[in-house]
Amino acid sequence: MTSLQAAKKLAAHLAVDKHIITGNLVGIGSGSTVIFAVERLAERLVIKHKLPLTDLDVNPKLDVCIDGADEVDSNLNLIKGGGGCLLQEKIVASCSQQLIIIADYTKNSKKLGDQYKKGIPIEVVPMAYVPIQNKIEKEYGGKVELRMAVSKAGPVVTDNGNFILDWKEFKQDVNWNQINTQLLLIPGVVETGLFIEMAAKAYFGLSDGNLVGIG
Ligand code: A5P
Repeated sequence: MTSLQAAKKLAAHLAVDKHIITGNLVGIGSGSTVIFAVERLAERLVIKHKLPLTDLDVNPKLDVCIDGADEVDSNLNLIKGGGGCLLQEKIVASCSQQLIIIADYTKNSKKLGDQYKKGIPIEVVPMAYVPIQNKIEKEYGGKVELRMAVSKAGPVVTDNGNFILDWKEFKQDVNWNQINTQLLLIPGVVETGLFIEMAAKAYFGLSDGNLVGIG
């Protein structure tokens, strides 16, 4: 296991051990760090109690959501959606009493954009991607790119049938709450990868085997 994987595992295990008790309804995001959280949940719960899966239409209120992030700033604002799952992850997080972020040390930054250079993902209705690109670049600056499939077969299509725009080279000294609200008002924007004032805590595994937490 590399030191980066060990750091992810450390943060994931601590979050599960500290925040999940038997009987909790737990929301789970996606990504390579979350896999370690699911493994830990399974170790702790599945053997004795099984790990039943549910849906939000059956259980719309969750106790805890554990998820990874692409970047976390010192105010616990996040960039998510690097893997393309921002909308469903934000819905699950919004249904949870607490959002706990688990990550390796590379995700910990002072300001959004310090570490993660792939931009802020924005999920959009396909027919509107060009006007949205233009509007964001004109009003807020930076560069907005349509995310393409690795195979170059065409744009990435999300689980919800939408496209993803990645907003890069944005200004860093801004009010992210305000920008997020404004982005969401653009017709055709479905959701943003800005998770503002949502996370209660973030744990970062370090390369030396230690952990830091914020929140
Ligand atoms: C998925 O779209 C993202 O929001 C993930 O939470 C994020 O990319 C974290 O993934 P890793 O744990 O693999 O870094």
